[in-house]
Amino acid sequence: MTTVDYNSLIPNNVGLAEDRRLQRALESWQPKFVEWWKTLGPVAFQNNDVYLRTAVSVSQEGWANFGYVKMPEYRWGIFLADPQPDRKIGFGDHKGQDVWQEVPGEYRSDLRRLIVVQGDTEPASVEQQRALCLTAPSLYDLRNLFQVNVEEGRHLWAMIYLLHGYFGRDGRDEADELLLRHSGAEDNPRILGAFNEPTTDWLSFYFFTYFTDRDGKFQLASLKESAFDPLSRTCEFMLKEEAHHMFVGATGIGRVIQRTVELMKEHDTDDVSSFGGINVSVLQRYLNLHYSLSLDLFGAETSTNAANYFAAGLKGRFHEDRREDDHQLKDVTRLVPAFDQSGVVMNEAPALLALNETLRDDYIEDCAKGVERWNRTLQEVGAELRLPHVGFNRNVGVFSGKPISPDGLVVSEEKYQALRATEWLPTADDRQYIQSLMKPVLTPGKMANWISAPATGVHAKPIDYEYVRA
Ligand SMILES: [Fe+2]
Ligand SMILES: [Fe+2]
Repeated sequence: MTTVDYNSLIPNNVGLAEDRRLQRALESWQPKFVEWWKTLGPVAFQNNDVYLRTAVSVSQEGWANFGYVKMPEYRWGIFLADPQPDRKIGFGDHKGQDVWQEVPGEYRSDLRRLIVVQGDTEPASVEQQRALCLTAPSLYDLRNLFQVNVEEGRHLWAMIYLLHGYFGRDGRDEADELLLRHSGAEDNPRILGAFNEPTTDWLSFYFFTYFTDRDGKFQLASLKESAFDPLSRTCEFMLKEEAHHMFVGATGIGRVIQRTVELMKEHDTDDVSSFGGINVSVLQRYLNLHYSLSLDLFGAETSTNAANYFAAGLKGRFHEDRREDDHQLKDVTRLVPAFDQSGVVMNEAPALLALNETLRDDYIEDCAKGVERWNRTLQEVGAELRLPHVGFNRNVGVFSGKPISPDGLVVSEEKYQALRATEWLPTADDRQYIQSLMKPVLTPGKMANWISAPATGVHAKPIDYEYVRA
């Protein structure tokens, strides 16, 4: 078990006190981080007490410590999962060799890039969500939003530690850049497109945490396989926190659906908008949007970068160790989708080149599980939600810009543009209606009319607990 230093400025289990240089470097980065949090974190409630979970160690019982804290005083720490003794590289050209405790020179720039891209998404989502606190549907939800936000902040710390600790001067420069790029900024935006749009309403927030945080889960899970052991251990611990973010999304949408179904039954109608609920058709359009944006995050179907990262041992597959193959994929092929005159077809491609697609497949399977659960509720009124076809509304890879319907049919460009604007993606009217529902509800235990109460409160506290206090 690694020892935890919780008394120093930066709580950590990486022995920061023994590495003065690194400690000084991180302590000089910290005020810049707090400054960033205060300017680009939540637009309000910065001085309120919030009932938050703080990681104080990585052990079963210690990593989730609950109590009131003012967000700018949150103890953002650096925690790596315990090392596995004699851990060996599990895949790629170096399979079977000892994992690396330092960065090999030949992989330095690739590893740095992977860490920077992952790191960039963490503060980006905090920036995207910063205005949501003004319209929370309950104190319970407000607290969950802040929990997600402070943990994304900690995920940034996790990546900053690696950059400062293992990449020297250019790592420190990258660490500074991570606070200088801003979501949606004209001149210096965040790296990935999906992280440059503000999250404007709570329905979008729930879909974002369900679909886009789940992309995070799959990226972290494949980096957890990395031969670079500190990266692996960092990602393993981040995954625990990530699970809560997806919980917020899955249960958030579940509660919206429950309320919709209640109103549909009560008023015997599909159109619950005059009763302040959200129609299933609107939910489907929001789902279509967030799902397709998240699919793009996995990159092109075939990619030499992905093949190189795998061969080098930098980034593995989801659950690499549970797969029964040679973990090198040298002579293996798989089918990948393509687009030609006849529409969507499947072509054979080297499995090594198709790793983005393999990860996307695993992601899609995972996404479907929650939809299935939501549909159990929707069944009561004969409705359902569906994941659209993988080719719908894509901006990356073979389907980019192609006129494919949510059912996977190739349609005329004209029909595509028309239906995308009116039936398949959130319309201006949808957005306006959802925006009209966004009124803060800050009385303990009370919920906005468009969402049901959660099944239980946070950490065995009652639902009407004062999760955020003045
Ligand atoms: Fe994260
Ligand atoms: Fe997350």
